[in-house]
Amino acid sequence: METQNNGKTALITGASSGIGRELTRLFAKDGYKLVLVDINQEGMEQLASSFNNQYGTQTTIINKDLASSSAPDEIYAETAGKGVIVDVLVNNAGFGEYGKFATETDLQRELSIVQVNAVALMHLTKLYVKDMVGRNDGKILMLGSEVSVAPNPLMAVYGATKAFIKSFSEAIRNELKDTNITVTVLMPGATNTNFFKTAGAADVKGADPNKTADPSAVAKEGYEALMSGKDHVVAGWMNKAKVAMSHILPDPLVAANVRSEMTPKEQAEQEQKKTVLALTIGAVVIGAVWFLARNRSSVVPVSAYDKVKYRYKAHKAEHKAKNALASVGDTVKGAYHNARTAVEEAVA
Ligand SMILES: NC(=O)c1ccc[n+]([C@@H]2O[C@H](COP(=O)([O-])OP(=O)(O)OC[C@H]3O[C@@H](n4cnc5c(N)ncnc54)[C@H](OP(=O)(O)O)[C@@H]3O)[C@@H](O)[C@H]2O)c1
Repeated sequence: METQNNGKTALITGASSGIGRELTRLFAKDGYKLVLVDINQEGMEQLASSFNNQYGTQTTIINKDLASSSAPDEIYAETAGKGVIVDVLVNNAGFGEYGKFATETDLQRELSIVQVNAVALMHLTKLYVKDMVGRNDGKILMLGSEVSVAPNPLMAVYGATKAFIKSFSEAIRNELKDTNITVTVLMPGATNTNFFKTAGAADVKGADPNKTADPSAVAKEGYEALMSGKDHVVAGWMNKAKVAMSHILPDPLVAANVRSEMTPKEQAEQEQKKTVLALTIGAVVIGAVWFLARNRSSVVPVSAYDKVKYRYKAHKAEHKAKNALASVGDTVKGAYHNARTAVEEAVA
């Protein structure tokens, strides 16, 4: 099936796999010419040949490692040299690394994460957006994440780069509001790509292939948001709810929740089993104490000393329960206060 060329060109980084590959497919289907940027030459060649056969797509392949600081200038020079006008820029390439920042992760790899996810994304945007402003036309899609608005324990540097992307994108979008250029952030939750494997996190709870999103569905939501000029889109309704909660709940609570998703699956299952066991034992003990307390005087005569002892214990338990409730109350109050401030700020 040959597609009518729409005369426009989309440049996609990290095009050979996962969400980037699915986005590339959507552009090809809609008649865009493509510039694919990746480190996987073979993957890009296969895609180019498949889209050429299916849609008659014209593709330029640029094999560059975005971890190298000179890559964005080299990519720009190559497109300019070939007379390619980039109408749509998709900053998709990105990766993370799993582990505790203080003791487990590798600094060189983390510097590369910042370079690829944040610096190269900003650098490429700087180069191409100037031309877009000159033509007063263009679209930019940035790959953020649901962790763009949540701390990401055990992938701390990765999460911070995604927060950078959201902040940077919303800011330049505002600066460009009087032009025909739009900036859109796609914020996926856990998606079934090579991402977790590359990060060394294939066995964490959140990476369970039964729960992760299909990259083609994620790409479709991003593509539609880009085409309609939205500022951002959170892919998937569950993730929309999670992101909404991240705006309301206190940061430590959000971080703890993300961390539980980052726990190795086996450990998470064991912890869940322990919790269920503890709750069951607790319920049985409470039931037994309650039963004895109610029936003790009819079963065994209670001495005056025992009565005072039980009253003291009951008083202590009541005190502990009140403290626990007060602590839950404080958390709820904190969340309520944050939510109210957010609403007041939005209305102001
Ligand atoms: N999967 C998720 O759960 C998830 C969730 C939220 C956001 N995201 C974001 O979505 C984007 C795409 O990730 P994905 O899930 O599709 O993962 P993926 O399948 O690993 O795709 C990442 C792509 O980026 C390319 N890439 C990585 N480092 C590069 C470099 N130094 N230079 C050039 N290209 C490079 C990879 O090339 P190779 O294949 O050759 O390594 C690959 O094509 C990333 O920005 C990621 O942070 C993913």
